[in-house]
Amino acid sequence: MIILGINETSHDASVSLIKDGEILFAGHAERYSKQKNDWYNNTDIYLDMLKYGKPTHIAYYEKPQLKRSRLIFRGGNGHWKPTIPFDLPVKYFSHHHSHAAAGYYTSKFDNAVVVVLDSIGEYNSSTIWVGEGDSLRQVYKKNYPFSFGLFYSAFTKLVGLKPNEEEYIMMGMAAYGDYKKHYARVIEYFPSINQQKYNFHTGIYDWQLPIRTDQDKFDIAAAVQKVYEDRLIEFMRYAREKTNKKNLVFMGGCALNCAANTMLWNIFDDVWIMPNPGDAGSSLGAASALYGKHLNWNDPYLGHDLGGKYPVNKIITELINNKVAAVATGRAEYGPRALGNRSILADPRDPNIKDKVNLIKKRELFRPFAPVILEEKASEWFDMDYSSPYMQYTPRCLKPHLIPSVVHKDGTSRVQTVNRQQHPGLYEVLSNWYVLTGVPVLLNTSLNIKGQPLINDENDILNWENTYNFTIYR
Ligand SMILES: [Fe+2]
Repeated sequence: MIILGINETSHDASVSLIKDGEILFAGHAERYSKQKNDWYNNTDIYLDMLKYGKPTHIAYYEKPQLKRSRLIFRGGNGHWKPTIPFDLPVKYFSHHHSHAAAGYYTSKFDNAVVVVLDSIGEYNSSTIWVGEGDSLRQVYKKNYPFSFGLFYSAFTKLVGLKPNEEEYIMMGMAAYGDYKKHYARVIEYFPSINQQKYNFHTGIYDWQLPIRTDQDKFDIAAAVQKVYEDRLIEFMRYAREKTNKKNLVFMGGCALNCAANTMLWNIFDDVWIMPNPGDAGSSLGAASALYGKHLNWNDPYLGHDLGGKYPVNKIITELINNKVAAVATGRAEYGPRALGNRSILADPRDPNIKDKVNLIKKRELFRPFAPVILEEKASEWFDMDYSSPYMQYTPRCLKPHLIPSVVHKDGTSRVQTVNRQQHPGLYEVLSNWYVLTGVPVLLNTSLNIKGQPLINDENDILNWENTYNFTIYR
């Protein structure tokens, strides 16, 4: 049985292919169409997927009938249907079931609570599941319009950003604001895990305080982030008590909030967040739900294959000479983060490197860069006693003066830890860099033209090199 998992029509289309427990392919539509957050899959991604096998079954990440009924309920016409490009048996799984399966079946746990929080599925917006062995069952649900995700997205829109896409920018802004200024006001919108002020689908329509300066926006972002964190902790404590499980799997778009994720380690003994916890991860979720057993999860390098060997020496030489090196090699990351195969690496010791990389990437100057560090050195440099291979947590930096370019305004860093098994090439780069400099850390940011998805194929490499007059090593 070779299962094709499909996710589309909700801001991040993707395709996955599994055979028994092996993940043969998992990729994002946007990397092929070059349309950021593309809602639909395309011929190119399907052709790339077919190189890895011919599907015999299809798993779709939502229940179209249910979703249609909600769209009609909201006043739409419900004229919507999924596109299935192969004439094969199709099985439909609910939106939250796909999220939960993507998380649980890629985890190493055989006993865990699975929490799914997002904007909205068909109707579910917050669910709790219990995973035992290969069984996965829902034990709690809360429906639209109550929604952690919609609460956050409504405020994302209020500060002038794009909801369902730019929540990560709002999270970055929060570090620049004073949460106390608007906390009492914002908590009225989300006073408890059982109550919200109104349907946030409509946006925030009764704010009425001035939003004139960037600082106004930062202060609102800080308060929203704090309220979100407080409610998240409350919900996670509830989930732990309800199920009596020590291991957490966290999924859904809310699991992309890495600042809040950091607190989960205070509540649970162990935490797994699949590196693609939002809807883009749900093609793998649907496929694994149909398979119904744990997958053999090795790493997130599951997309388009550029081939090649990791250019360790070239990267090191470039870093020594110019402090910045771009690399594109091997298979593309499945998930929003560049984790070494489509990355710009830079010297984190240089306080000016941030501006240099920001100029290349032409992005907002307040947005922080992330460090990548040898896993065995992580607890010396950051306040963490866990690994973070997919940049999902933001512990406090313990030596900010030594690596100023990868420390955020509030003293934290969105850390990627690397061990040899996870990525031998990147591990070697960091080891060599450590020998040369005494610092086991590099800056790691995504290799993309501003506003476009991560670089995917050979053509993108040439485009990038032409645009920025900058060599990409491979
Ligand atoms: Fe979702």
